[in-house]
Amino acid sequence: MNHLSHAAEQFQESAIRRTGMLGATVPGLISLAAGYPAPEVFPWDDLQSITADLLARRDGNTLQYGATRGYRPLIEHLLSGTLAARGIAAQFEDVIITTGSQQGLDLAGRVLIDPGDVILVELPTYSGAISAFHNLQGRMAGVPQDAEGLDLPALDATIAGLSATGQRAKFIYVTPNFQNPAGNLMSRPRRLALLEAARRHDLLILEDDPYGSIYFEDVTTAADTRPIKADDAEGRVIYLGSFSKVLVPGLRVAWMVAPRMIAQKAELAKQAADICGSAFDQRIVHSALDRGVVDRIAPGLRAHYQAKRTVMEQALTATLAGRVKWTSPRGGFFLWIELPAGVDDCALFDRALKAKVSFVLGSAFFVNGQGHQFARLAFSGANHEQISEGIGRLAAAIMATD
Ligand SMILES: Cc1ncc(COP(=O)(O)O)c(C=O)c1O
Repeated sequence: MNHLSHAAEQFQESAIRRTGMLGATVPGLISLAAGYPAPEVFPWDDLQSITADLLARRDGNTLQYGATRGYRPLIEHLLSGTLAARGIAAQFEDVIITTGSQQGLDLAGRVLIDPGDVILVELPTYSGAISAFHNLQGRMAGVPQDAEGLDLPALDATIAGLSATGQRAKFIYVTPNFQNPAGNLMSRPRRLALLEAARRHDLLILEDDPYGSIYFEDVTTAADTRPIKADDAEGRVIYLGSFSKVLVPGLRVAWMVAPRMIAQKAELAKQAADICGSAFDQRIVHSALDRGVVDRIAPGLRAHYQAKRTVMEQALTATLAGRVKWTSPRGGFFLWIELPAGVDDCALFDRALKAKVSFVLGSAFFVNGQGHQFARLAFSGANHEQISEGIGRLAAAIMATD
């Protein structure tokens, strides 16, 4: 007898993790797949001294269970620091600390999705969100994007198409800042228009913002990356932020800011999932904020990833100019390339592996079965030499299928 639930029968493995893990099994492989932060920019010395100080105090709470909501001083620091700086005015009751923003996606889904509900997502969208919503038995409808972000007439048409068949979308999931995978930065007018569209259609917005502080040279004002949540007067936006890319992902500390009722329900869902996030991790992050570590390392992180972006673009120009197309990302971790006509991401992936380089299939980010003409290349984790060599290998694999 099969004991699995219907939901578990359909669970999806994350394409990013599957391809990201290949590095361990193929010797000499250069991974441009996983969007891992660079360990060279982790603040090792600060973390060593913070953890030593925390443990030296022998305060039982440091290694104890904690409140499900999270460590209060951390939430208070977020409210008056990071969130206020991003223009978000929230209160303690609106915030919940999550185990990575991946848990935020899962908790938001648990609170909002009934089996069969429709969720609107960008084409392409973050594959980890696809997995989270899919595993909760949500159905997804894709909305195309242009250079400024989500295509709002297409959003209206998608919603009209759904309602013509008696279906209604529950919420729309967006990553306005340096989207994973396409690197897009949604323009400010488009953000405001999206908020207005959400009001018109009575939709919630789930805004995922792990990359907002990783901006490059031409993003000059905070207005460029101002979260949609900052202009949310009606309580329509659930906002997810994370310390994974601006500190370290191994501490698994992130947060959700939500309309109060949703925050309360998310707290109950979290209680059942893991009781509470790690008290130790949250205290480490709190100390890192309190000692100014996060702010101090931010300019270095931006310079580090910008330089890698440039190395990758130079390597692409040198080896594949005219063959692949891309828009230069203004922040984040990824270059999203359009492959030459006739080159399919799956076929290319097999060749690339033989050439010992990996990437993530473009189609893994599309909920409509399309996207086979794209590939996501992460420039975050590899070093400059690996990026250049990896692109050289990828170019050879592309020419072989071209
Ligand atoms: C768009 C997006 N959302 C959420 C996550 C999850 O991040 P974490 O759980 O480490 O905060 C990632 C990680 O790559 C991401 O790119």
